[in-house]
Amino acid sequence: MSKIFVGDYSLEQVGKTVTVQGWVANIRDHGKLAFIELRDRAGILQVFVDESSADFDMVHELKRESIIEVTGLLVERDAKFVNHHLKSGQVELKAEKIKLISQSKDLPFELDAYSHTGDEIRQKYRYLDLRREKMTSNIMLRHKVTTAIREYLNSESFVDIETPYLTKSTPEGARDFLVPSRLQKNQFYALPQSPQMLKQLLMGAGFDRYYQIVRCFRDEDLRGDRQPEFTQVDLEMSFVKQEDIQNLVESMLKEVVKKSKGIEIEDKFPEISYDEAMTRFGSDKPDTRFGLELVDLTEIEKDSKILFITKALKEKNGSIQAINLPQGSGKFSNKELGNIKQAMMEFGITSFATAPVEDGIISGGMKSTFKESNAQVLQALDAKDGDLIFFVTGRKDKVQQALGALRLRLAKKLDLIDPTKLNFLWVTDWPLLEYNEEEGRYQAMHHPFTQATVGSADELKASPETVKSYAYDIVLNGYEIGGGSLRIHERDMQEAMFQLLGMDASDYERDFGFFLEALEYGFPPHGGLALGLDRLVMLLAGEENIREVMAFPKNGVGRDLMLESPSSVDEYQLSDLNIALK
Ligand code: AMO
Repeated sequence: MSKIFVGDYSLEQVGKTVTVQGWVANIRDHGKLAFIELRDRAGILQVFVDESSADFDMVHELKRESIIEVTGLLVERDAKFVNHHLKSGQVELKAEKIKLISQSKDLPFELDAYSHTGDEIRQKYRYLDLRREKMTSNIMLRHKVTTAIREYLNSESFVDIETPYLTKSTPEGARDFLVPSRLQKNQFYALPQSPQMLKQLLMGAGFDRYYQIVRCFRDEDLRGDRQPEFTQVDLEMSFVKQEDIQNLVESMLKEVVKKSKGIEIEDKFPEISYDEAMTRFGSDKPDTRFGLELVDLTEIEKDSKILFITKALKEKNGSIQAINLPQGSGKFSNKELGNIKQAMMEFGITSFATAPVEDGIISGGMKSTFKESNAQVLQALDAKDGDLIFFVTGRKDKVQQALGALRLRLAKKLDLIDPTKLNFLWVTDWPLLEYNEEEGRYQAMHHPFTQATVGSADELKASPETVKSYAYDIVLNGYEIGGGSLRIHERDMQEAMFQLLGMDASDYERDFGFFLEALEYGFPPHGGLALGLDRLVMLLAGEENIREVMAFPKNGVGRDLMLESPSSVDEYQLSDLNIALK
């Protein structure tokens, strides 16, 4: 039988004598009578107690966050005392008996929603922090999301299969967390960065339509949307086309949004290519809730005589691009513009300038720069009087990245983002590979198991820099919430891919021999995707950090402040593992 929680009581139970347990969120003690706000995970119920109760005296001693048990009659509140902010606001419990179950010490911080508490202390006392209404509701939202996902995938014939955590390093791109083995001295397991190869092998095993809500581990630098351990909704399907996977994930996400937030999204999610995303938004995960698109002026300015432009355009892939900020003129102090310039230069661009539009021309310091091309530039940017244009020159990819970051900064500053919108977007047609300048080799844009759009290993090797892949990302409000691809299912293509990534046969036989062999025993064509569950829930909860939707997250340097982990271990444990510390 399902439980009626304290916060759930309503007119339905009026007239009943009930016994409830909960935390004392607040007490208003008027001497001869008192009101206790009793709280549990579902919310608050008002308890009324006066001298008619034998336990009245103990109420004066009660501390907030103590746990009590109350027995009493549930009554309807007078119309004028109804609290519309509470689910149980139409009723209250008239206490007959109150029992103290667990007295609380003075709290290290206030739990009421409005007081601001530092992140460190919140994490140290996470079990208290989670009692706050916002945190409880985030965790409940997460539960609703995972429930909706399971219901959807189960109804679509997916099978939930667990894969090991003590596993072998997979090439997802980040560093691995290693676990030393005691039984196999001097050998290490790696915690999975994702179950990528294992889910593919499950396709080889015949488990068409696998899913798992699974913890993944990546030792990378942390930021607001990254934790060292996070959760993926991981899925894989056999005998499918890219559009089958996209359609399935799209319906699942619509169902999740409907069941968790009550919002119906009817339109098909828009889809743009990777190239278009970079060209229009300067990002492979564009936030489409606002405009401020990038405009490439390279063609218009190709005959310019202005030194900084000619210099930039002479370089390989040199370009001049701009963003027009409607009615942005006069909205920035010189200091702010200086800060923006500084931020732009960190992207490795060669020059940055701003210009207001006045009396139908590009004005300020840029007046003479665009004398010849004024009309064309204004038209390309759709710029009008009062607007402010931001110009950037440099190598095309760097200019795009810089303006992509600027676009977000401007939108935030001028409050151009509607926080109630949920803008999903597919980004498709990814390049298969990208060149890593530092290491002087190609690396997989998605991962090495992604299928190229060319059909043979020879074609793949002939033009590695231009080959596209059957990869797709799902983006929500400027965050990558998931990514996937069709996979290679033929040994020669998989070997060709490993070779392009700079491995020789002995490297890939050592690391992936078992996998290559598996492809030779009747392996179905297949593909899949993994959603970042934490990011999805973060966005649905309107939060800016995935910590806010995780029960026990780590801080910015990967520390659990409550468990005080990582920590040193006893000498005998190290010796068991044959490990000596430097
Ligand atoms: P990928 O590496 O893109 O793909 O990961 C899938 C999704 O997981 C989320 N994510 C993270 N969330 C929080 N903290 C992190 N450190 C973190 N890293 C990734 C992102 C991302 O889109 N095996 C492939 C999937 C596939 O091809 O099926 C994979 O792991 O939202």
